[in-house]
Amino acid sequence: SIYSIAAIFAAYLFGSVPSAVWIGQAFYGIDVREYGSGNAGATNTFRVLGTKAGITVMVLDILKGFTATNLAYFIGLSITGPHNSVQFVNYQLALGITAVMGHLFPIFAGFRGGKGIATLFGMVLAVHFQASVVCVSVFLTVLMLTRYVSLSSIIAGFSFPLSIIFIFHSPLRSIVLYGMCICVLILITHQKNIERLLKGKESKINMFKKKTA
Ligand code: G3P
Repeated sequence: SIYSIAAIFAAYLFGSVPSAVWIGQAFYGIDVREYGSGNAGATNTFRVLGTKAGITVMVLDILKGFTATNLAYFIGLSITGPHNSVQFVNYQLALGITAVMGHLFPIFAGFRGGKGIATLFGMVLAVHFQASVVCVSVFLTVLMLTRYVSLSSIIAGFSFPLSIIFIFHSPLRSIVLYGMCICVLILITHQKNIERLLKGKESKINMFKKKTA
């Protein structure tokens, strides 16, 4: 319907808001894509501009995914079915992934965006709260042990479909299917990180440092 098309379009626009680029430019006069890993995400903002900017970008990027996913509520019950139906969750997942595509290829920043981890997390938060708690726990554990944000993101990403299958035994197969697609997507967006990790050249995050650039 026209409503689902409008929602998908809006989800892409939400995801396209390049928080890292805009905050860097507006408050620091810097395009974070020219420094650090070159990524327009929360991690690189943290790396280049410090804790305050990094956390702001992270919150905004999570909100993009969360809000876009919940646009499903505006499509209309007659189309999505009730909010606990399989079909509703499918709409949520499709909208969330669309927002992630916006984040990866933002129309407002020359289609050069980030890797979508915070936005994906916003989607997981909206779709399955308990799984999002597992993802955060896995992320923070790997981060504390290794201080590699990329590795933490990859492993936390895999913990999403795995927790859906083995912890929550969810009957919603589409969550598992989308979860597996997300794993593939994360591996693709983190190709350079994986290469650096294998060579031992990936940069570690220092949680107590203010700036590096
Ligand atoms: O959130 C993206 C993160 O997993 C890696 O970012 O800047 O270290 O490539 P970065």
